Amino acid sequence: METETERKTTVADEVDGVLAELFLTPDGLRDPYPRYERIQELAAVHHTALGHWVVTGYDDVNAFLRSQHALKDPYRVFAPWVGKDDWQDHAALRRLPNIMLWANPPDHTRLRKLAGFAFTNRAVQAMRPQVTEMVERLADRLEREGSLDYMKDFAFPLPAMATGRMLGIPDADLSSLQGPMRAFQDIYELGLTPDDLAECDKGAQFTDDYFSGLVEERRKNPGDDLLSALIAAKDGEDKLSQGELIGMCNLLFGAGFETTTNLLGNGMLALLRHPDQMDRLRADLSLVPGAVEEMLRYDSPTQLGNRVTDGPVEIAGVEIPVGSSVVALVGAAHRDPRRYPDPTRFDVTRADAPVLSFSSGIHYCLGASLARMEAQIAFTTLLRRFPGLRFDGEDTVEFRPRLTLRGVESLPIAIG
Ligand code: HEM
Repeated sequence: METETERKTTVADEVDGVLAELFLTPDGLRDPYPRYERIQELAAVHHTALGHWVVTGYDDVNAFLRSQHALKDPYRVFAPWVGKDDWQDHAALRRLPNIMLWANPPDHTRLRKLAGFAFTNRAVQAMRPQVTEMVERLADRLEREGSLDYMKDFAFPLPAMATGRMLGIPDADLSSLQGPMRAFQDIYELGLTPDDLAECDKGAQFTDDYFSGLVEERRKNPGDDLLSALIAAKDGEDKLSQGELIGMCNLLFGAGFETTTNLLGNGMLALLRHPDQMDRLRADLSLVPGAVEEMLRYDSPTQLGNRVTDGPVEIAGVEIPVGSSVVALVGAAHRDPRRYPDPTRFDVTRADAPVLSFSSGIHYCLGASLARMEAQIAFTTLLRRFPGLRFDGEDTVEFRPRLTLRGVESLPIAIG
């Protein structure tokens, strides 16, 4: 008969196997959900053979992200595939310490205070007319052409223009920034190869050069934009350094477009694959804000968060020791049956279903209300204007083989 120790070893081996499939195979990356389900059945908290810890349930992920002992440490997180000492040789890794997303208190507190003024409810609501106009203009194009690639011609340009305008990036520069910015952001994926890392470095070098130029330009000629305001921002004697300004541009533009693009894309895909839900929403557009929350839950643009512990953290009765590298699986937490009844169902009327897509705790997304506003305006407008919205041809849509930021490359749609 199997002893308790043998049973635990068998379960641990199985979880390791499913995690390897999840992170290291194209199939796992494209469709993580069956793997999440299996891991969740097997373990709430798991210590992998590679030494990482993984947390999978809704309450546990939420509690872990809020723990004061859960800190950011990009070099510990990325150390397995970059020599610990040579991170300075990589433009993509060099940029991270200046980005508040990767900072810990007190630096994080200071950076967040200096940038926070731009994201007050009032500041975001003031952008509503501009965002509405951008959405209508992109929808006009769909009406004129009858079909288009929703990712390329709608889901990318909308957030890029909204954050670009906010920051003061000329519209004409947006499309040339997209490729390099996306390549840089692949640094957030676990399991990158040296070739992937080289691409991230190229992207980071490009965006660094671009934003250094833009900071210089705004120092000389301040405008009515966020970058000029960030250059001038002061907290007592404190100001953002040159590196921090470039880090902030990278973070805001990157966060502002790829994640929001993927909310628009994954949300549209969920509607197209659930026509009854699309009809339900079109029949009552007051459901759109709740539907956007359901889109965030059902297929989140951000699937995980990384932290390193600087003290023991107890999760689900297991003590995660000091110095552990932990992956909080937000995508799995969103399918936790203890939190969401019938979690695999996409239901635009689902109530009481808070999401972790914007994280939890001190790094809670600064741009969450802007992202929500863009998505709500976009879906309301598209459903109102186009009763015949459908896939252009067959549903052959494929997710990019990426997990931290999850989204599709292309989504052909038509309106008739
Ligand atoms: C659907 C769209 C978005 C999603 C899913 C998203 C998700 C996230 C997540 C998960 C984090 C925290 C990561 C962690 O805890 O490690 C974060 C942080 C952040 N996001 Fe977003 N984001 C979105 C849109 C935006 C937009 C539109 C902006 C601004 C233009 C923005 C700006 C930021 C900033 C500045 C932080 C850093 C906050 C901090 O470290 O204190 N995000 N976002």
